[in-house]
Amino acid sequence: MLLRGITSTPLPSSLRFQTQTHPRNVAVSSQTQSPFSPNYPLSISDESLDSRGFILRRTAEGLNLDDLNTVFVAVGFPRRDPEKIRVALDHTDSLLWVEYRKTRRPVAFARATGDGVFNAIIWDVVVDPSFQGIGLGKAVMERLVKELLERGICNIALYSEPRVLGFYRPLGFVADPDGIRGMVYSRKQKKK
Ligand SMILES: CC(C)(COP(=O)(O)OP(=O)(O)OC[C@H]1O[C@@H](n2cnc3c(N)ncnc32)[C@H](O)[C@@H]1OP(=O)(O)O)[C@@H](O)C(=O)NCCC(=O)NCCS
Repeated sequence: MLLRGITSTPLPSSLRFQTQTHPRNVAVSSQTQSPFSPNYPLSISDESLDSRGFILRRTAEGLNLDDLNTVFVAVGFPRRDPEKIRVALDHTDSLLWVEYRKTRRPVAFARATGDGVFNAIIWDVVVDPSFQGIGLGKAVMERLVKELLERGICNIALYSEPRVLGFYRPLGFVADPDGIRGMVYSRKQKKK
């Protein structure tokens, strides 16, 4: 799914954004109350999260990768080599995670890679199953996308499993914008 855009460069003219403040390739750009306009209130403030025992972290410092792996596995992602996760995080532009004060463990996480100027792709959006449904996923996504947009990065994409499309749509993401389809390299493709 894209935040009304696609990842290839150059973009088709129909998808190129016109200005920094009203990017064409942001689905919500024409709305006055865009969830990602600078003044739009977040669904939950940092203070409110804090008062409920959730600390927002914006760097990987203090993030225990085994604990993160545990969350990945708990939501059905494959367990990964922590050393590879470390490398991936070293090459990650923006990340956000939520630490639960009581256990000091990560309970929500999302990250974005990209070129730092035009394009970003969001990966590994996860919330510990014990903490799902209380707004943490939305809190993390809102802040990650807001941060990217504030840096002028307007072409924001992600992969979504079908069952999660309904989570991303209210956050401004659209599938197949203007008929553009994402493609990924697949080793399963038939030989011709
Ligand atoms: C998808 C996920 C990140 C959502 O996190 P969450 O903290 O449970 O979601 P939130 O509580 O922030 O929900 C925010 C809103 O999205 C809605 N929502 C959450 N999951 C949804 C889903 N799968 N489909 C449709 N809507 C969903 C909530 O009802 C809520 O709506 P509201 O704002 O109207 O109240 C979390 O369920 C998760 O980690 N899932 C497993 C991993 C995964 O599938 N990640 C995405 C990979 S593509």
